[in-house]
Amino acid sequence: TTNDSRLLRAELLSFDADPGDEDTPAPGSVTPPPDGVLWIENGRIRASGDYATLAPELPPGLEVIDHRGKLITPGFIDSHVHYVQLEIMASYGRQLLDWLNDYTFPEELRFASREHADALSEAFLDEMLKVGTTTAQVFCSSHPVSVDAFFAASQRRGLCMLAGKVLMDRHAPEGLTDDTLGGIRDSERLIGDWHGKGRLGYSLTPRFAPTSTRAQLDATGAILRNDPSLWLQTHLAENTGELDWVAELFPGSRDYLAVYEASGLVGPRSTFAHGIHLDQEMRARLAERGANLAFCPSSNLFLGSGLFDRQAAREMGLGVTFASDVGGGTDLSGLATLKAAYQVGQLRGQPLTAWQGFHGLTLGNARALSLSDRIGRLAPGMDADFVVLDPAATPLLARRTARCRTFGETLFALMMLGDDRSVAETWAGGRLQHRRS
Ligand code: GUN
Ligand code: ZN
Repeated sequence: TTNDSRLLRAELLSFDADPGDEDTPAPGSVTPPPDGVLWIENGRIRASGDYATLAPELPPGLEVIDHRGKLITPGFIDSHVHYVQLEIMASYGRQLLDWLNDYTFPEELRFASREHADALSEAFLDEMLKVGTTTAQVFCSSHPVSVDAFFAASQRRGLCMLAGKVLMDRHAPEGLTDDTLGGIRDSERLIGDWHGKGRLGYSLTPRFAPTSTRAQLDATGAILRNDPSLWLQTHLAENTGELDWVAELFPGSRDYLAVYEASGLVGPRSTFAHGIHLDQEMRARLAERGANLAFCPSSNLFLGSGLFDRQAAREMGLGVTFASDVGGGTDLSGLATLKAAYQVGQLRGQPLTAWQGFHGLTLGNARALSLSDRIGRLAPGMDADFVVLDPAATPLLARRTARCRTFGETLFALMMLGDDRSVAETWAGGRLQHRRS
């Protein structure tokens, strides 16, 4: 944190509640002040709202950073991403299981080196900040040094990040495979060193059912039971080949989800990536425990996994978060994730409004990840993590958004046409972390 106090003038977009699925946001869910001001101090938001209303309270003589014509939103949140897969994004032509064996596992072997892990952590955070993402729930590799490197890099920048060491004690190359209890001890060491330190949190990370024995899943569940402040991340029902394999490996289990339930892995801080091939009964079981599904549309399209049924989850009251799932995903940008989510929705007859999309990337993801007491809104006391978006970042965007008649239309154009060029600045912990050159 810094001691300086700053004022930024721009249009502000911050949600107080889910806007619903209608074309216009539900009353009380959002009120964007067109001429807003954000006052940040000591890494936190001191005040935010309409400029004319707040002006009398603002400290005189404080420099105003003038972003009028631009839009400030809370920093984007990515609920599921693999930093160790940055360099294998867009590897051609396989569905999940072959893609893991041919590209992913060989790549993750490189993270035995602390030097490599340090370099890739920095590169990954640079890329995230460039697209406006200030918080993510991150898979590292099996190597504890890959986690030390990632948390150390995040801490240096003052970022709020969740991450964990991948747990795998079977069906992976030797250099990635844990000794069952060794992997658990490594996780406990990392929790002691990093969980709750500054803005960091530990997420227990069994990769998915096929690469863990029942003993490893049970031991993971025991850690989670002992400390409910921990998070848990894994994969669930992404691909039909994976479903067949899980059925073969756990013949006594009633379905895929039951493998995780039996070890106590399904709770309010658990994120299950994908969840494409589920029935309503499984969705109800997830909802009852307060877990969330990470919808990873660019990954689902790239790996040919299937079309996520967002509506079915929402009907069950099951939390849905938005995620890039890089390196299965093809873009780190939250805007690109929303664009892909909109396209998947179109194919399912469930188009995504821009209100839903921007709520999802900010407050929606923060709530589902139990982080909304710190991030996800532009409100007093919240950490000062935010993005300055430029609706006229390129000549084409300027032409398009000049034609928008409402704020909702502008938001939708940004969601479909925006990319890293639309991110003028990214701030986190009250620090300017990226400025588009
Ligand atoms: N399932 C198990 N591991 C992975 C992974 O690394 N990426 C994706 N998309 N699915 C997985
Ligand atoms: Zn994943």
